[in-house]
Amino acid sequence: MQAYSKGGIAMKHEDLHVVIAGGGSGYTPGIIQAVLHNSDRFPVTKFTLYDIDPVRNEDMNVIIKYMLKHDGYDNIELVATLDPKEAFTGADFVFSQIRVGGMEMREKDEKIPLKYGLVGQETCGVGGFSYGLRSIKGLLGVVGYVQEYAPDAWILNYTNPETLIAEAIRRQYPNAHMINACDMTISIEETMARNFGYDRKNWICQYYGLNHFGWYTEIYDKKLERDVMPELIKKLQDAPMKIASFNKGDQSWQDAWNMLSEIVRMFPDYLPNNYLEYYFFPDLVVESTDPNYTRANMVMDGRLKRTKEMAEKIRHHADGEILDFDFGEHGEYIVDMACSILNDLYDRFMLILPNHGAIPNLRDDAAVEVPAYVGRLGAEPISMRHDIPDFHKGLMEAQNAAEKLLVDGYFEGSYQKVLQAFTLNQTVPSADKAKKVLDDLIVANKDYWPELK
Ligand code: G6P
Ligand code: MN
Repeated sequence: MQAYSKGGIAMKHEDLHVVIAGGGSGYTPGIIQAVLHNSDRFPVTKFTLYDIDPVRNEDMNVIIKYMLKHDGYDNIELVATLDPKEAFTGADFVFSQIRVGGMEMREKDEKIPLKYGLVGQETCGVGGFSYGLRSIKGLLGVVGYVQEYAPDAWILNYTNPETLIAEAIRRQYPNAHMINACDMTISIEETMARNFGYDRKNWICQYYGLNHFGWYTEIYDKKLERDVMPELIKKLQDAPMKIASFNKGDQSWQDAWNMLSEIVRMFPDYLPNNYLEYYFFPDLVVESTDPNYTRANMVMDGRLKRTKEMAEKIRHHADGEILDFDFGEHGEYIVDMACSILNDLYDRFMLILPNHGAIPNLRDDAAVEVPAYVGRLGAEPISMRHDIPDFHKGLMEAQNAAEKLLVDGYFEGSYQKVLQAFTLNQTVPSADKAKKVLDDLIVANKDYWPELK
């Protein structure tokens, strides 16, 4: 799979050119800030913002230009473009965070399943599958451009849904220099550490799963010299975590932490990824979701609006502090990964990789999320060295089979395969509902999905 490169590629160590694919995203400033904080070990002299949305890309261009000037980085070149050739030529690193169909389509992924009483979520359940069939095409496009214009560049991907992306890229571009990563585990760790008074930098975490679908089995604290997972589980059972500053005032994250506590009350042996709430408590989730105002609406009225306002203030030369972001670990995590490749640091990250024995009793060609070391040769997954319990194995196998069927469906243009994938999804109780919601999503995605026959 893509993450095992055959030997290191020749890399520059100065004058680095970083391209952000999905440059117009509200997460771009956090990534750029993280790059700037690491300028001693990650010396970037050019940023390119690449997007297909001219308005959002230009808004971000205005914000980043202001940020670079404000922070004294006049020497860094900034380019914003819609032209892939201009964007990717000469790139050393590509950070991808594209969202095919934007928030408008995320809103549909969330609201259409809710009409059928099904979980409506951007990456989990059939909403995630709907997004997947759009996203694969977009990401294949980006990876294709990189192969054409900058074949030696590393692609570090945040684009969701990550396991579907990893599976599709493996099939189409098995030799791409690409690492798929998600910030959820680091965010869980950081939020736990802040809530309960630990320093996560001292932690060595053992974790396995699929993306947004996994469990910690051990959190060893090097300073305290003990596994702190049992005490963390106990604390979570007693009371939910409070949202961290980077989720300030964001009720839906508070709801997620509340549900995390529910999961460990019911299944106290391992510490789960909060996204498992959608598979364990779909009814509760549906009941507590407003079908007319979902997460996409909150993001549009929050992060997206704030970004727009920042660009407007800069255009109108407003006074005072204009830049106002707190992105938590999102930007730092992907930049740390780039630094680890460039400087061959062999730091440890949670990544989405081909299993190949990392989880011994799971099929080799599953795209799994496990800890891995990252250096000049890419990512090297760390084996669990033990089998996983039947409960997790069963859940993961069903999810993995559903994801594989969906990717088959994408490449073969097969309605039957996609219907099987929807039916197998553990948030869907019947084939009847699977078909109804699928037929509705086909209409909603007519400009994005491959034709299914
Ligand atoms: C976490 C997940 C991402 C997901 C994001 C959603 O960071 O790891 O995969 O996209 O949350 O956040 P949002 O604020 O857009 O709902
Ligand atoms: Mn994620």
